[in-house]
Amino acid sequence: MAQATFRIWRGDQKGGQFQDYQAEVSEGMVVLDAVHQIQATQANDLACRWNCKAGKCGSCSAEINGQPRLMCMTRLDQVPLDQPVVIEPIQAFPLIKDLVTDVSWNYRVKKTIKPFKPRPPDAPDGTWRMSQEDVDRVQEFRKCIECFLCQDVCHVLRDHHLHEEFVGPRFLVHLATLEMHPLDTEDRVKELRDKHGIGFCNITKCCTKVCPEHITITDNAIIPLKERVVDRFYDPLTRLLRLFRPGD
Ligand code: SF4
Ligand code: SF4
Ligand code: FES
Repeated sequence: MAQATFRIWRGDQKGGQFQDYQAEVSEGMVVLDAVHQIQATQANDLACRWNCKAGKCGSCSAEINGQPRLMCMTRLDQVPLDQPVVIEPIQAFPLIKDLVTDVSWNYRVKKTIKPFKPRPPDAPDGTWRMSQEDVDRVQEFRKCIECFLCQDVCHVLRDHHLHEEFVGPRFLVHLATLEMHPLDTEDRVKELRDKHGIGFCNITKCCTKVCPEHITITDNAIIPLKERVVDRFYDPLTRLLRLFRPGD
């Protein structure tokens, strides 16, 4: 059995440092297995968050060799083992301890978004009719596991710390789910511009590249939402019409 070095961030908000651990590596292992092995044998107090070990709960987000990844879905045969595997917490949120960050800001942000508001049922038995094409459009967004890796990589949050002004790609995906839902009647376009900060996104597509669910965040969610904002507020004809529709 081969040995590999894992360089893991240890510390809290007061400070910390990377610490090297050796772990035994066998076929089929993922980074989370190595972290668990180290936790069990050498560092019982090493804090990490995980739940499903199947890429579905979104808990085990970390940065592995500088890349935002799920620890449970990063196989060790995808990582060079002739040098230390560097594992550190995601950077866009406050550190609690070791690999665990406080992502509660995301849950507070979600509550600021107007919820789903369906139209009255289409049929007397209380059911609706939707075209498959409209259903398919939002289905992609519903794959989100709230791992917040896209939030971590977005420079607006990570580098510029505009958490008060910008909801981040995860919640632009959520807004797209609601705005493009064929039954939804709510209007969130003004909030997209004024409160949720869509204008801060400059379409770098970094969020799309790290999404473990392969959601096409920028092309399918953010750009169509930006188009709605532009159509509503910056299209000359719409601006003229708004003179007769106060409130926007
Ligand atoms: S495309 Fe927009 S939301 Fe995604 S990482 Fe870039 S700035 Fe952030
Ligand atoms: S959109 Fe993708 S990267 Fe962002 S939270 Fe959802 S699953 Fe994670
Ligand atoms: S432990 Fe659930 S996504 Fe990794």
